[in-house]
Amino acid sequence: MTNSYIAPRLIDWQKKSGRHDLPWQKSNDPYVVWISEVMLQQTQVSTVIPFFNKFIDSFPNINKLAEASEDEVMEHWSGLGYYRRAKFIMQSATILVKKYNATFPMTVDELKSLPGIGKSTAGAICALAFKKPAPILDANVKRVFCRFYGIKEWSGETRIDKKLWDLAEQNLPDKEVSIYTQALMDMGATLCKPKVPLCLKCPINKKCISYENNWVNEIPAKKIKKPKPIRVKHVLILENKNQILLEKKISPGVWQGLWSLPEIKKGFNEVNWVQHFLGISSFKTLNEGTISAIFSHYKLNLIFKHLSVNDLSDKQIKDTLKWFEKTQLSDASLPAPIKRLLINI
Ligand code: ADE
Repeated sequence: MTNSYIAPRLIDWQKKSGRHDLPWQKSNDPYVVWISEVMLQQTQVSTVIPFFNKFIDSFPNINKLAEASEDEVMEHWSGLGYYRRAKFIMQSATILVKKYNATFPMTVDELKSLPGIGKSTAGAICALAFKKPAPILDANVKRVFCRFYGIKEWSGETRIDKKLWDLAEQNLPDKEVSIYTQALMDMGATLCKPKVPLCLKCPINKKCISYENNWVNEIPAKKIKKPKPIRVKHVLILENKNQILLEKKISPGVWQGLWSLPEIKKGFNEVNWVQHFLGISSFKTLNEGTISAIFSHYKLNLIFKHLSVNDLSDKQIKDTLKWFEKTQLSDASLPAPIKRLLINI
């Protein structure tokens, strides 16, 4: 069944009042659409724009991305968060070169089989780049549909998720699907906002169940949040003249592939750590403190000690450790909270 109320109104609204100047809208190259959609998966538009521009400048197509080193790509992702996305795009670039001759497959199923591309991102690529009708359902779009249809249950429930995908499918227009898709995103971001939605300006308010019943503040239902578990790690800021020692994160984890502060693992303290890894027996303690970083599944408290060492020994340091000039730090691939901390010391 096709629902023909929403699409034509959204398409008209998009042409007059939607966003037309976002940097990724200048192109319908599937590569550009893909990179922007992945960056926008968990990050808001204003944050994404400078990262997107720099990324496309450096890696303008699939081949350039597939040839780039992991360090180069991570450097471009540094500060954007959710670093698994960068890993996935590197893996996908390799697959696209090998299996698809550096082009993009044009079906949702093939796109979905690539690392980091879910059903909604695959739908967005099909609709925006290939102008093929395919539904999308990101958080903004879920909010639009939940409000319009008066769905009060939490959209993460399997039954509700399925219902929303069915509605997304039923509302697809036969033509101007890319304008419709952008309209859904723009509506969700600029009118049907989480707080204080601008219902009076909404092109589909006449049939919106939440507007009619004054439910806009209770829909979408919130997930009942459990407090996040807290993990604690001890790290070192080691300073030698104008250099800071950093450690490359190799093992799987949220910051894998980035340069972070060396961690003091169990069995070590700062005294035996500098002795063991650097062959140094004297240092001065400058400062100590804690910073926090919040991830989807936990909160990380990093307790740091800031030490200054004067003379380096000639002990060979392990490959994962490297001294960085302080002036190099703003461009290096560091997690955002670590970069903030180091730039401010
Ligand atoms: N969020 C996800 N995709 C988007 C797009 N193409 N434009 C604006 N916001 C978005």
